[in-house]
Amino acid sequence: MKRTVLVTGATQGLGAAMVRALDERTDFDVVLAVRDVGRGEAVAKTLRRPARVVALDLSSLETVRRFAAGWNEPLYALVNNAGVQHATDTPPTVDGYEETFAVNWLAVVELTLALLPRLEGGRVMNIGSGTHNPENTTATRFGYRGGRFTSVAALARGETDGATPSQRAKDRYATSKLVVMAGTAALARRFPKTTFLTLDPGLMPGTGLARGAPLVQRLAWSSVLKWVAPLLPDTSTPERSALAAVGLLTGAFTSVGVYDFEQQPSRRLWKGALDVDLQERIAQQTFSLLGVSS
Ligand SMILES: NC(=O)c1ccc[n+]([C@@H]2O[C@H](COP(=O)([O-])OP(=O)(O)OC[C@H]3O[C@@H](n4cnc5c(N)ncnc54)[C@H](OP(=O)(O)O)[C@@H]3O)[C@@H](O)[C@H]2O)c1
Repeated sequence: MKRTVLVTGATQGLGAAMVRALDERTDFDVVLAVRDVGRGEAVAKTLRRPARVVALDLSSLETVRRFAAGWNEPLYALVNNAGVQHATDTPPTVDGYEETFAVNWLAVVELTLALLPRLEGGRVMNIGSGTHNPENTTATRFGYRGGRFTSVAALARGETDGATPSQRAKDRYATSKLVVMAGTAALARRFPKTTFLTLDPGLMPGTGLARGAPLVQRLAWSSVLKWVAPLLPDTSTPERSALAAVGLLTGAFTSVGVYDFEQQPSRRLWKGALDVDLQERIAQQTFSLLGVSS
């Protein structure tokens, strides 16, 4: 029997590369969960085998809940790939939360918990980032200061101590990824019937992630950096990291740690993300904010 893999944010970048890599595997059915169905269908049309495209906007928790309530099939894997990074301050989501934190973490937990009954024996893959690590020189070179966890409630309100809108946006992204990388470990402990994996995909220049950045930075991201990238450490491509994701989804991996684009325990993981007290605070505060029991 075929195994269903649901990939969020599969319209471009890593998510689109993942569904293309999964398309090579005849034992999987792929579902693209996207906020723009037309763009999802455009990706699906490039695949060799039919793939379903379903609407899912992760910036609204009510939409996430409704989506999960309507999902009645068993899932082999949920890939929480969708992510957002802003270049400046932005208005809150419909729920009143800062969007980076809401999409990159709150929606991930809401969706995962709601789909867990369908995922027994299956896998959940979350996506981290080297930006969470204050000691990662590739990230600090680009102005990231690492994850700066305060509390889930404060991060949901968008609070950071960054002096400029640009620094605040970077802090929010890096912190959301610290929360993903640390918080996933706490989820893995709570729900042992499902395997939780975190992929640290490396720097993948050229994806849509920099779309809100000023023009010069966008040009650098989509052209210069893309070509210089192979010379830098920690750098991958969506295709390479997608292959790693498929390997992690299919290989004998356990719910321990964070894996890189070579399917090895990530050397970019900050020791602070391994702090069990931090991991548990993230989980408990997130469950409390979402109104679910822990
Ligand atoms: N690129 C990098 O260097 C890098 C490094 C480390 C980690 N990552 C992570 O890798 C993942 C994929 O990023 P990417 O680089 O491939 O970026 P991308 O090309 O911008 O792709 C992001 C995907 O997320 C979707 N998305 C954003 N907000 C959404 C929402 N509210 N609801 C549903 N979908 C939403 C986007 O949909 P639309 O097409 O509709 O906008 C898009 O499909 C993210 O989790 C990112 O944080 C990226």
